[in-house]
Amino acid sequence: MRMYDIIEKKRNGNELNKEEIDFFISGYVKEEIPDYQVSALLMAICINGMTNEETSELTKAMLESGEKIDLSAIPGIKVDKHSTGGVGDKTTLIVLPIVSVYGVHIPKMSGRGLGYTGGTIDKLESVPGFKFSLDKEQFFSTVNRVGFSITHQSGNLVPADKKIYALRDVTATVESIPLIASSIMSKKLALGSDCILLDVKTGRGAFMKDFESSLSLAKTMVEIGKSFQKETVAIITDMDSPLGNAVGNSLEVIEACETLKGKGPEDLTKLSIYLAANMLYLAGKGSLSKCKELASNAIQSGTAFLKFKGLISEQGGDTEVLDNYVKFPQAKFSEEIVSDSEGYINNLDAEKCGLVSVILGAGRENKDSEIDLSAGILFNKKRGDYIKQGDTIAKIYSSDTKKLALAKKVMYESFEINKSTPAVLPLIQARVTKDGIERFIR
Ligand code: URA
Repeated sequence: MRMYDIIEKKRNGNELNKEEIDFFISGYVKEEIPDYQVSALLMAICINGMTNEETSELTKAMLESGEKIDLSAIPGIKVDKHSTGGVGDKTTLIVLPIVSVYGVHIPKMSGRGLGYTGGTIDKLESVPGFKFSLDKEQFFSTVNRVGFSITHQSGNLVPADKKIYALRDVTATVESIPLIASSIMSKKLALGSDCILLDVKTGRGAFMKDFESSLSLAKTMVEIGKSFQKETVAIITDMDSPLGNAVGNSLEVIEACETLKGKGPEDLTKLSIYLAANMLYLAGKGSLSKCKELASNAIQSGTAFLKFKGLISEQGGDTEVLDNYVKFPQAKFSEEIVSDSEGYINNLDAEKCGLVSVILGAGRENKDSEIDLSAGILFNKKRGDYIKQGDTIAKIYSSDTKKLALAKKVMYESFEINKSTPAVLPLIQARVTKDGIERFIR
């Protein structure tokens, strides 16, 4: 078999078979196939796509390229959650404690921020003392004691994805549904949970900018789950404007605490309850409406917050910060973003807000940048709100005055104010299961 022929076959729009896909993945991991040939194939996949069968075979070959975690030391049903990435998305910190209240186990491996999108590990780093590099025994024992654990993705899980993702990043081949779906699902399958909940973000702050491509990605991932006998549900949710009122690491952990105490912003609370309910549903805890009730009771009763405290304590963090927020890293400087006109806030652009947070220091400019855990944005007003001239829309925080000044300029470009109300964009736009699609958007 020759890599040249595989590239030519895909370039001509034909379907690759299992042997060809296995040849390309194993040859690339063993460094027998050079980057330039893999780049050419990735571009051909990007342009001509893949069938569901090809995408499943690609996922399988990637999964088989490395270690798989055996979760048999954790009893009962294990459910995993994954978000395709967004701005202000701190739902993992809220949803996992809620679900664990009902005895469902969640062994979660998370990543750091990517580009302008935040990462759970960076957020948790703002809790003094919190340890996220756990070995397997510590990871499993935390899940068994607390009900869930959050650790940094490590080890030799899916080495094919590490190599291919790095190449996609520099060859303009990130935005391909089969490549994104196989990348995400191979990592989820390597982790070995029984069921998977996917939060597929859609809109300006997401990989997939429009609803139809987000739906196509969601359907592809649910199909992959089905072909591996892992029940998978995908929820398509709005990422046109940031989620919640806080963007930035310590600011987002504080907002997650407030939400677990029943005092969170409406959009974040609603989405967290819906995602938690879907995980409980996947774990067999009843109908979706009963699971929504369970999820909201876990917040009202304070039990979900106690679970979060339990996690922080078990992984070495200072639990006092969760009630006494001044103990979080504090920014030295802040600036108000004030409206110079009156009207409705239109187009609060999540991608621009994400870029503002990177400029402030909350995200990385390059892979070696240090982040400022205290930096970020707190919104007073969101998309659709009516504001008067002189009202404060948001406050931005940083420990560097130069960064603050630059971020302020970009922040003013992230929204428009005009007399008309923006079109309503539902927060939860569709739910995709193995049985079909429920659309909540026209
Ligand atoms: N997240 C991943 O893990 N892989 C992709 O390709 C895109 C988002």
